[in-house]
Amino acid sequence: RIVHLNGQWLPETEARISIFDRGFLFADAIYEVTAVIGGKLVDYAAHAARLKRSLHEIGLGLPCAEEQMLALHREIVVRNDLKEGLIYLQISRGAEDRDFIYHDGLAPTFVMFTQARNVLGNPRIERGLKVVTAPDRRWSRRDIKTTQLLYPSLVKTAAHGQGADDVFLVEDGLITEASGANVHIIDRSGTLITRALSQAILPGITRASVLEIARAGGIPVEERGFSVAEAQAAAECFLSSATSFVMPVVEIDGQPISDGAPGPLTRRLRALYLEDRL
Ligand code: PDD
Repeated sequence: RIVHLNGQWLPETEARISIFDRGFLFADAIYEVTAVIGGKLVDYAAHAARLKRSLHEIGLGLPCAEEQMLALHREIVVRNDLKEGLIYLQISRGAEDRDFIYHDGLAPTFVMFTQARNVLGNPRIERGLKVVTAPDRRWSRRDIKTTQLLYPSLVKTAAHGQGADDVFLVEDGLITEASGANVHIIDRSGTLITRALSQAILPGITRASVLEIARAGGIPVEERGFSVAEAQAAAECFLSSATSFVMPVVEIDGQPISDGAPGPLTRRLRALYLEDRL
């Protein structure tokens, strides 16, 4: 792959960053993941806006002009001949000798790379995901997309070891998110229920699109928290993220949801999403 590092295009084996980079030492970094389908960026403007907000929340600004950021996204797709997959972007505060106190004026480290992936034809769409639950032990500013992903990485790996596909994180009796996606349920009357935005969850770009599409399609939406028991008793359950779009969940902690197959409204929402956004 050809990757981007601080304004340069390099083969992936030649891109080097400092061992003193604060992204490496302190997870002092923001990231974004944008899907690419048919060589085109999906929901770019919303990802760019969230990037700016995340950076602002930790006292950083964009490392280049907004038009340049879009140009880099387009260029990395072309340079890697990426048809389907994702663009990963990370901006860290920069490198300086290790110190909890950081100093102003560091040169940020800005990297981008692509990953080719079968996003549309993912075989798990047909059978749906099995998930297990775990306490949400992440920090309390999950609205900022930082690279502090150790906890979700540990629990998702443990879940895989038990034959599950993903994890639902639970706090104060309510589901916050999956390891890297927002969680939604559809109740028996056909209402889409999803946790309201707060510092407890990432404001998913796909979540926002799905809610807009649901409302436009006449599906009622309720933004509120729900428990594991409510999700297990729901008619349908699904995840949303840039890398899975709308992904059915068919089992939670060994308990099948409805008949244990992807639900009809989930399928419809996925189809509407693909129609609307691609
Ligand atoms: N994850 N919640 C969390 C904790 C996430 O990490 C993500 C995305 C989402 C969904 O957000 P969006 O719809 O904007 O992708 C929700 C990305 C895909 C990742 O870490 O790879």
